[in-house]
Amino acid sequence: MPSRRAFLLAGAALGTGAVLAPSRTSEARVLPAAVAPRTVALSAREMDLHLLGSDKPATRIYAYDGELFRLIRAKRGDELEFTFDNHLPEASTVHFHGIRMPNEYDGVPTLTQPVVAPGGRFTYRIPFDDPGTFFFHPHCDETGQVGRGLAGVLIVEDARDPKFDAEHIFCLKDWRLAEDGSYLAMSEPDGASKAGTYGATRTVNGVPALDLKAPANSDVRLRILNLDSTRVMDLGVEGAEAALIAVDGHALPPIPLDKLPDSIWRFGPAQRIDLHIRMPEVGKSVQIGDYRAANIYHFATLTAEPSSRSKRPFRALALPPPKLPQPDLKRAERLTFTLQQATDAAVKEVGLPPDDPLAKALIDTLCVGSTTYWAISQESWPTGEKRNLPPPLAKLGEGRSYRVTIKNGTRYPHPVHLHGHAFAVIDSSSGRLPKHFADTVLVQPDETVEIAFVAAPGDWVFHCHILEHMETGMMGWFRVV
Ligand code: C2O
Ligand code: CU
Repeated sequence: MPSRRAFLLAGAALGTGAVLAPSRTSEARVLPAAVAPRTVALSAREMDLHLLGSDKPATRIYAYDGELFRLIRAKRGDELEFTFDNHLPEASTVHFHGIRMPNEYDGVPTLTQPVVAPGGRFTYRIPFDDPGTFFFHPHCDETGQVGRGLAGVLIVEDARDPKFDAEHIFCLKDWRLAEDGSYLAMSEPDGASKAGTYGATRTVNGVPALDLKAPANSDVRLRILNLDSTRVMDLGVEGAEAALIAVDGHALPPIPLDKLPDSIWRFGPAQRIDLHIRMPEVGKSVQIGDYRAANIYHFATLTAEPSSRSKRPFRALALPPPKLPQPDLKRAERLTFTLQQATDAAVKEVGLPPDDPLAKALIDTLCVGSTTYWAISQESWPTGEKRNLPPPLAKLGEGRSYRVTIKNGTRYPHPVHLHGHAFAVIDSSSGRLPKHFADTVLVQPDETVEIAFVAAPGDWVFHCHILEHMETGMMGWFRVV
């Protein structure tokens, strides 16, 4: 891995040395940046969107650059410099979810950066070493800001990918709306302390459902993102042969959907999948939906239109295998964490002393929730007036391998996310999970999941991605030195 100094020199050679921010940690790049970083302006603002239908009142949402789920495409090996301008009426930050990057750009208030106040700016310099389907979102008042729509899509393209005839991106998100287009409370105690507060207005790319066309017998790539704050979905396809080809952006050997338990892929907030589907013959259509809810939500229909492609046996197109640090499972150190309710956990009141700058800044930024319902192994992220940022869940050694067992001691599913890493999902007590790389893993009630990774330097949070759970305590952090 190139040293920090090598990077500065490379940057200087390209005439870009001056824009490199001082780093608290060493660089985490795998690929050398091919060219000087491209600058992308990212400004968060309010805008009106008709979510209830064009004849119904509009809703005031939050978006980046006036585009719901702003789409950014990068190429594997690119490095982009994002100039984030906060035009929202509240503080925010940007977190590039699932991207392996220097810790200083991770977007976690107080741990990695100060919040960006209204009118403020922060520059993120993000390397894209891993191809795939990713997204970005704020890391402050997430229930409120993501609840109002603030998220963007990041596609990292790979020239080595097989060729598909077409591609569609589906961003799934429910909204908490009243009939007049205004918001219902983003969080209710009964939701926050249980499965989460659901939105009843279901959308894909901001509309109730999509009716699309694709060439008959063609190979279509679907990138499906669960951008909801709360809802776990069972993704299924009817009317076409389909295979799962990537999870959280990372390729896996294709698995035909009908080989998965119940022929669905269960995924929670923040998780993404890529599917390869083979379109049927002319005039026939394919339905894609969430089969978990009592009422199946068919969010997209793809109808086959005439094409020159002829009918042939389906063989899933495999994406190139990911080039990720491979944990050494034999020598890895083992750690175990339990997801639990704060009441059961008898949360320890030890933490950083209240006058510790980190603990104090955390509260002053308002980036914490108001109540504690959840914990990870008896530690809760601070909420309300509680200024005790807990000590790290563990101190890890840079470059060393870890096997982390995550036990779900609650009655609800939790999609657990680790920042700054792609981890290997190596085992699940239910036997339901194939081996794959991911940045978020759904741990079901009573289930135990084991993940493994090579620790990258920095302070990285580890949390449930049901945003209310995270903001009411189910978050901790690892210090990697
Ligand atoms: Cu998308 Cu802290 O996460
Ligand atoms: Cu949770």
